[in-house]
Amino acid sequence: MTFLEEIQRRRTFGIISHPDAGKTTLTEKLLLFGGAIQEAGAVKNNKIKKGATSDFMEIERQRGISVATSVLAFIYKDKKINILDTPGHKDFSEDTFRTLTAVDSVIVVIDVAKGVEAQTEKLVEVCRMRKIPIIVFINKMDREGKDAFDLLDEVEQKLGLRVTPLSFPIGMGYDFQGIYNIWEKKINIYSGDNKQTVSKGVEFDDINNPELDSIIGHEAAETLREELELVTEVYPAFNQQEYLDAELQPVFFGSALNNFGVKELLDCFVDIAPTPQPKMSDIRMVDSKEEKMTAFVFKIHANMDPKHRDRLAFLKIVSGTFKRNANYLHVRNNKKMKFSSPNTFFAEKKQIVDESFPGDIVGLHDTGNFKIGDTLTEGEILHYKGIPAFSPEHFRYVNNADPLKSKQLHKGLDQLMDEGVAQLFTLDLNGRKVIGTVGALQYEVIQYRLEHEYGAKCSYENINIHKACWVQCDDESSEEFKEFKRVKQRYLAKDKRNQLVFLADSAFSIEMTQSKYPSVKLHFTSEFE
Ligand code: G4P
Repeated sequence: MTFLEEIQRRRTFGIISHPDAGKTTLTEKLLLFGGAIQEAGAVKNNKIKKGATSDFMEIERQRGISVATSVLAFIYKDKKINILDTPGHKDFSEDTFRTLTAVDSVIVVIDVAKGVEAQTEKLVEVCRMRKIPIIVFINKMDREGKDAFDLLDEVEQKLGLRVTPLSFPIGMGYDFQGIYNIWEKKINIYSGDNKQTVSKGVEFDDINNPELDSIIGHEAAETLREELELVTEVYPAFNQQEYLDAELQPVFFGSALNNFGVKELLDCFVDIAPTPQPKMSDIRMVDSKEEKMTAFVFKIHANMDPKHRDRLAFLKIVSGTFKRNANYLHVRNNKKMKFSSPNTFFAEKKQIVDESFPGDIVGLHDTGNFKIGDTLTEGEILHYKGIPAFSPEHFRYVNNADPLKSKQLHKGLDQLMDEGVAQLFTLDLNGRKVIGTVGALQYEVIQYRLEHEYGAKCSYENINIHKACWVQCDDESSEEFKEFKRVKQRYLAKDKRNQLVFLADSAFSIEMTQSKYPSVKLHFTSEFE
């Protein structure tokens, strides 16, 4: 296969959802159809049973098993599919956001009864910002849920999407009869006991054909006709380019648990989903078809075994061919490196790989050389952009609880931050350290890991911070900027990259600061134009 063919056949994506919407089940069914696993349960069994442990221990244990599910690859209809896991615990960390920098598209899973939930909103917002193509899968159609049109409205409004259904349900819950597949013009009939088989679907390009009445009943047929007419009137026709430009989001309905609607989703996905996309670096756009290899680290998995200090850095190949034992430049360290045992992930197995192509994820064993966002090239000095930090939602001072172990504490904090567990800010005024997290449970995880992996102890102290705002000012020698720094000194800090951050204690304070110092711009993410 030529280099170009290798690129054209890759589809790298992530599945995002609120916990319990069915991400694990859908992932598993995709693997099943891809022939990557033989029976249902293989991925699922890895999931920690709910309620078995305290919540934070569950995060910790999920971390343990998530190496296995970080990347799941399989071949379907000759396409190489790479699914990247986006950790789905309710107190998800920075890590979840970062994974979105390595996908070319996403599938959003929504529970038909619960509708759009909080975590989905946050994650889709990031996808929207990054213009990632999205397909929506409305799951659990075998259960009573919201009316399909109401749900489509909710998806449009809460997620800010412009949707077009590519399948439409015939009834729901107890009355669920199946779906009309608008994409393939087929009817798929659901039967509660076809759990492990796939309904083939009957070609049905004219829904006015009276035969429909005999298949699903006269009343259901009439309702379906009316609903499909409404769909055509209300929603834009599907247009692949608009989907790829993230301006239109197709919607599918189904039941992952019952294998229903999943194959249709996958068949459409391999047809329309984007191949490995170009990526912006700090100096130029890099196309996946360029021959020179470039790649970036989007995730680090550390200390799976505390005795061995093993770390696995996950590298996304952007362009060129990544070769085992070839010399690459670690741009931030300005150091040449070669890798004798890069891993690839196939289904749930890790194996050594000689060559990887754009869209692929490679796992590199690391002894502490990598941070999230690091770039490897064949010599060109470029850094991949677009791995910004977002303002955390919770903030606490971190104190050293064992003065004899301050070195261990610093090292531990440093490495956990490299891994993207949370963000660390150092106050300008007194050098005190503040940890910011997306979910409150991360504090327990950090405390536990510091103790077990680094032998350090920490305690926390409350601090009243509403948001972290990254500060930008074109003229840092201006009087206005100097005054801002003087007046707000108490609230200023540096992030890990030494960027200036304003830790605002309220939304009001952000507003006031902006109006008082108009030349000082405050951003909620660490990267801005
Ligand atoms: P997650 O990864 O998004 O957290 O969700 P997961 O797949 O674990 O699914 C959450 C629960 O929803 C599971 O039930 C799963 O069986 C169920 N589920 C997934 N898809 C469907 C569906 O199409 N229909 C119905 N009725 N249920 C679905 P659980 O009881 O929490 O776990 P388990 O005991 O089944 O493993």
